[in-house]
Amino acid sequence: MTVLDLRLEARVAAIGATAIAALSLLVVPTPVHAWQSAGPSPDGTHVDVTFSRDVAPILQENCQVCHQSGAIGPMSLMTYEDVRRYARRIARMVEARDMPPYQYDADVGIQDLKEDWRLSDEQIRTIVAWAEAGAPEGDPADLPAPVTWPDPAEFGLAERFGPPDLIVRSDPYDVPSVGQDRWWRPLVPTGLATDRCIKAIETKPSVVGRAVAHHANSDFRVAGERAGRLSEYALGKVGEIVPEGSCRKAPANSDVVFDIHYWPNGVEIEGDQVEVGIWLHPEGYEAEHDQTLTLYFLQGGRGYDIPPHGTLMTQGIHTWDTPVKLDSWQPHGHTRLVAMSIEILREDGRKEMVSMVSNWSALWHHSHIYEDDVAPLIDVGDKVILTAWYDNTENNRYNPDPDQWVGIGDRTADEMSHAWMAVTHLDRDSFEKLKAERAARLVSQRPDRDR
Ligand code: HEC
Repeated sequence: MTVLDLRLEARVAAIGATAIAALSLLVVPTPVHAWQSAGPSPDGTHVDVTFSRDVAPILQENCQVCHQSGAIGPMSLMTYEDVRRYARRIARMVEARDMPPYQYDADVGIQDLKEDWRLSDEQIRTIVAWAEAGAPEGDPADLPAPVTWPDPAEFGLAERFGPPDLIVRSDPYDVPSVGQDRWWRPLVPTGLATDRCIKAIETKPSVVGRAVAHHANSDFRVAGERAGRLSEYALGKVGEIVPEGSCRKAPANSDVVFDIHYWPNGVEIEGDQVEVGIWLHPEGYEAEHDQTLTLYFLQGGRGYDIPPHGTLMTQGIHTWDTPVKLDSWQPHGHTRLVAMSIEILREDGRKEMVSMVSNWSALWHHSHIYEDDVAPLIDVGDKVILTAWYDNTENNRYNPDPDQWVGIGDRTADEMSHAWMAVTHLDRDSFEKLKAERAARLVSQRPDRDR
C-alpha cells in the first residue's frame, strides 16, 4: 500500500467515525492505524519521531500557553519529563480532537476560520506515532528555542490588536464556595462621548473567577433603553472579531449592563470582577454596514424536557429581510448537548452544510469566525437551519446524571437550545458585488486559467 492509500484509509475511517458520532450521538471512537505503531512501517522505512525535534514544537505552539504552571491546564507540558508520562493520554486526546479544546468538525463545512486552534492531520499523526513508538526523547539539541509567554492575566486578543482601547469592569461580587447558581447584573458606564465602531471584543473573567463564571453577557443601554448587544461570553471563549468594513456599534453616553452567571464550584472568591476589553476603530471610521450579534433560538428554545435515558433533536429556522453575510457562529448548550450543526437551505432548494460540532463540550465555547472571503452570503428567501442533538443517556460522557429529567433553563444542570450568530446586514448592491467578486476569484484560481 502506498502512503497515499494509507492516508486515504485513515481519512475514510475518520469521516466514518464522525458520521457515526453525529447519527448515534456517541463519542467518536479512537481509530488505531497500524502504520503509526513503532518499528518498520508498511513500506519498510523506519518510523523516526522524537520529542525534541518533532513533538516539542507542536506542544510549544498549541498547548503550553495553557499547560504551564499558573495557567488553566491541569498539568504542565513544558519539558520532556513533564510530557513523557502523559504521552498516551495526549495521543488519545489529540486524536479524538479533544485537545487543543476547539470542537469543530474537520471534515464537513467551512474550514477557514479565524483564531482556529485545531491541529493539522499531520501534527496529530506525528504525536500519535511518537506515543506509539514509546515516546522517545531524541537529541535535546533539537529542541525549539524557548518563547516568552503572554501573562495569563492579560487579554488573549492583545497579541493581535495590542491592549484594548476601553475596559469595562463589572462591579465586584462575592462568590461563595458552595451554593446554587447565582446571577449578577450590574450597570456600568462606558464613558464613551461619541458613537464608535467596535473592532474586537474579549470578555475576561478574573484568573480565579474563570472556574465559576459560567457565562457573562453584556448589552448596551442608553438612558435606560436597550441599545444593542455588546458581547456574549461563556466558559472557554476567547473573543469576537468584527470584519473590516462592518460596524458593531458602541453608542455614545452608553452604559453596559452585565448578565453574569456564577456557578459556585469549591472556591470562595471575594469581590470578583469580569472585564470586557473593547478594541475600537478610530473616530470617524466609515463602515458601510452594521453588524449585529444575536441569540437565535432553536424550536422549543424555551420549553422542552428530555426524559431520563432519552435523547432529543431540536431545530431552528431563521431568515433575514435583507441579504446578510454570516460572520460567526457559536453553538450554546450545557452537559446534555452533544452536537449542533448549521446549514443553509437556498431558495432554489440546494442545501449547504456550513459548520458542525459533533464533539460538543460545555467547557469550551468558541465563536467560530469565518475568514472574510468564505463567510456565507445569505439572500432574502434563503433559510438558515440550526440543528441540535441532546443525549441524556450514559453514552454521553459529560452527563452528570442520566436518571434526571432535564428541562430548559439557565442553571448549569438545565439545558439550553440556541446559537449566537454575528451577521453583517448588506444591501442588494453590496451583496451582488461580493458575490461577483467571489465568483471572479474562483475563476482566477483555476489551474488552467493561463491557457
Ligand atoms: C486553552 C487552553 C488549553 C489548550 C490550548 C490546551 N489545553 Fe489541554 N487542557 C486544558 C484544560 C483546562 C484541561 C482540563 C479540562 C478539560 O479537559 O477540558 C485540559 C486537559 C488536558 C488533558 C487531560 C488531562 C487529564 O488529566 O486527563 C490533556 C492530556 C491535555 N489537556 C493535553 C493538551 C495538549 C496535548 C494540547 C495541545 C495540543 C492542549 N492540551 C492544549 C486547557 C488547554
